[in-house]
Amino acid sequence: MKRYDVIIIGAGIAGLYAAMNLPESMKVLVVCKDIPWECNTFYAQGGIVTALNEADIPSHIEDTLAAGAYHNIKEAVEILSRDSLGLREDLVERGMPFDRGEDGRLLYTKEAAHSTSRILHAGGDATGRYMHYFMMTRNPHLLQRNTLVYDLLIENGRCYGVRAMVNYQPTTLYADHVLIASGGVGSLYAYNTNSRTVSADIHGICVEKGIALKDMEFMQFHPTVFVKTPFARKLLLTEALRGEGAYIVDEDGKRFLFDYDPRGELASRDIVSRAIFDYKRKTGKEVYLDFSMFDEEWFHRRFPNITKTFEALGYHLPKDRVPISPAFHYANGGIECDTWGRIPGMQGLYVAGEAARTGVHGANRLASNSLLEAAVFARRAVEAILGTPVHDGPIPRFEKDYDTQLHKEHDKSYKHQLRQIMWKDAGIIRTEAGLHEAKNFIYDTKNKEIGRLLELRLNTAAAIVEAALARKESLGSHYIEKEES
Ligand code: SIN
Repeated sequence: MKRYDVIIIGAGIAGLYAAMNLPESMKVLVVCKDIPWECNTFYAQGGIVTALNEADIPSHIEDTLAAGAYHNIKEAVEILSRDSLGLREDLVERGMPFDRGEDGRLLYTKEAAHSTSRILHAGGDATGRYMHYFMMTRNPHLLQRNTLVYDLLIENGRCYGVRAMVNYQPTTLYADHVLIASGGVGSLYAYNTNSRTVSADIHGICVEKGIALKDMEFMQFHPTVFVKTPFARKLLLTEALRGEGAYIVDEDGKRFLFDYDPRGELASRDIVSRAIFDYKRKTGKEVYLDFSMFDEEWFHRRFPNITKTFEALGYHLPKDRVPISPAFHYANGGIECDTWGRIPGMQGLYVAGEAARTGVHGANRLASNSLLEAAVFARRAVEAILGTPVHDGPIPRFEKDYDTQLHKEHDKSYKHQLRQIMWKDAGIIRTEAGLHEAKNFIYDTKNKEIGRLLELRLNTAAAIVEAALARKESLGSHYIEKEES
């Protein structure tokens, strides 16, 4: 029987930072579905927030609460901001190569809805990639790729491990503690900025086991995404571009966002996304991100990866403007937990990162709080794990070979339809009729001959749609348009 002290599902920042903080003496296994860098952390561009100093904490807290439409759990936000100082110290001490000025001081940038520049970045616009590499090379534990978790071994309120396809073989892995760090739900939406591995499977297992998902109506759409590519993952244009001064314009060069919010391009993400969506719908005009105000040399140094990526697509930045659309970016809601990553009513099961609903983000996440939340609360989950006595009772056997097929013949087509319907009906602007349409599709499809992974994805989609139906009034990233009677 394969038995570990801790199994961590996911090798993004939450999973890797937890692993970095678990003692080498423990038997820890980090698993990921594909190759480790296929995760949302890797694709994060803009940066990671830390409060600048003690004096900046109240203002970081207020910015986070205001962006979250005050739906946040204040205690969690306070922990986030307070612990950001220690986190920055830890990362710098361990050698994370944040960008620095010529005088050696850390550089901070600004993003929308922040009252000051407090966002650390690395590699210019490749913070996630640098962070991921940094953590991969400091993880002292075993990391196993090609391990797709399709069940949690739960009996009488305790988790004993996972059931996974390991190199295409069904395998049972036991552990005293399981940390879910599997990310969000990107694959549910036609247009999304997420890694293709982020497909809401573990959320779906939680639904099946009666573990609560919370705030699932609050899905975040990033305003500035290049969607005219054939690939599932659409290309993010970091909010740091607007933080540094880029404009959003229509095809006539008009900066129309001020018609929606006095902060213009620097209003919170939910407002900017909705404004672009609405403006395109109303006027039929194309919308662009305009960088022409930037000095070319400075731009290429500050945003080297965006420059290169768009050069390959035929755009010469900063001279050319790029057509943009909002796209799904981040799940503000997730698996309900306390501020130690513990899941109510469950022993031996924890959650951190985008998969978790800590309450930090409320109804709309403040830019660049995601990497911060993942690291701060992963570390707290580690503390909870280390402070919990090892379970010494009998371990039930979960060896029965599941009569389960992960994929069935028509799943691909149903998944495609699901992505389209979620984008159309559970997207940026929703109506009650549209949500009912999505719900009907989900439940009809659940009754068909489908594989387990699609079943899990549908469970999560149902949780989003039902939460959206239950919230009758708009709040933050949940916007419901009233139909005319
Ligand atoms: C971005 O760089 O715009 C994304 C950062 C985030 O999601 O907070």
